[in-house]
Amino acid sequence: MADIRVMREDLRPPASPPRRHFISIKDVTRDDVERLLATARTLERSMEREVKKLPTLKGRLVINVFYESSTRTSSSFELAAKRLSADTMSIKSSGSSVDKGESLKDTAITLGAYDPDVIVIRHPQIGAPNLVARVTEAHVVNAGDGKHQHPTQALLDLYTMREELGRLEGLHVAIVGDVLHSRVARSLIQALSLMSAHVTLVGPPALLPRGIEAMGCEATTDISVIAGADVVYVLRMQRERMEAGANYVPSLREYSARWGVTPERLRPGQKVMHPGPMNRGVEIDPRVADHADALIETQVRAGLVTRMAVLYDLLTSGPIEVKTESVLEVA
Ligand code: CP
Repeated sequence: MADIRVMREDLRPPASPPRRHFISIKDVTRDDVERLLATARTLERSMEREVKKLPTLKGRLVINVFYESSTRTSSSFELAAKRLSADTMSIKSSGSSVDKGESLKDTAITLGAYDPDVIVIRHPQIGAPNLVARVTEAHVVNAGDGKHQHPTQALLDLYTMREELGRLEGLHVAIVGDVLHSRVARSLIQALSLMSAHVTLVGPPALLPRGIEAMGCEATTDISVIAGADVVYVLRMQRERMEAGANYVPSLREYSARWGVTPERLRPGQKVMHPGPMNRGVEIDPRVADHADALIETQVRAGLVTRMAVLYDLLTSGPIEVKTESVLEVA
């Protein structure tokens, strides 16, 4: 009898790590960020190998659910899961049963029936990832909810800045443009503050939310201050989020003339970032976007390894083994 009991215990699946989510930068500590950045760096080294696939998440299921358009976030999450050998499914609201009126809750419950380990969700409504976390057993990653949060974008931006400039502490970042409608700006301000960087927001008065300084940053309408920053982070004019009929700026032409990031407004050697997609000639001059000091493609590459790090971290609940064999072992 004793032997049978032991056998039964041996057959029990290993205990799952506690369910964790990555929904907001507010939910993570500086130690969490340091751990994720270190994991991303280790994974980036593994991507230098000819065979890039790692066996780490073999047998796991990652479902990407996108209710809004995306190129960078959706492709990098899918590739991140594949590079870690997880199974993946990608659902876009267009062409799914959302078109027939299915609610987010019912869609989440339906996908939850496949026992996914992770659900990555982008949705126009603030709080959509929290709803998915309530009605499924999956770890949930927020790939952007309305103008609230885009935490993995902030993480990849921190990674890019530290790799390029060697530090985050004390760094001065000017975030320029449509702050009002930007989840990227909200996540990034919090993430930079957490890492003791200094943030100045720059833009037209109507696109700088009143009281935004309470997040731990400065705000100004004076575009000339960007010349004093280590990094100029340009935001897209988010016309799809602007209320119809509201006049945030007199015209796009005037916006470009007064707040567009041009070579004349930058110091030589200043790094320029943009989360994409860019409106060339509106918020960013093409000569800036195509210059060697623009880190826009570097950000895209960082998006892959930081999202791999997030998936790894959620599913293994701990720091990556720095002993490279355990991580770099090829499937
Ligand atoms: N930066 C970003 O979220 O880009 P996508 O909308 O293409 O995912």
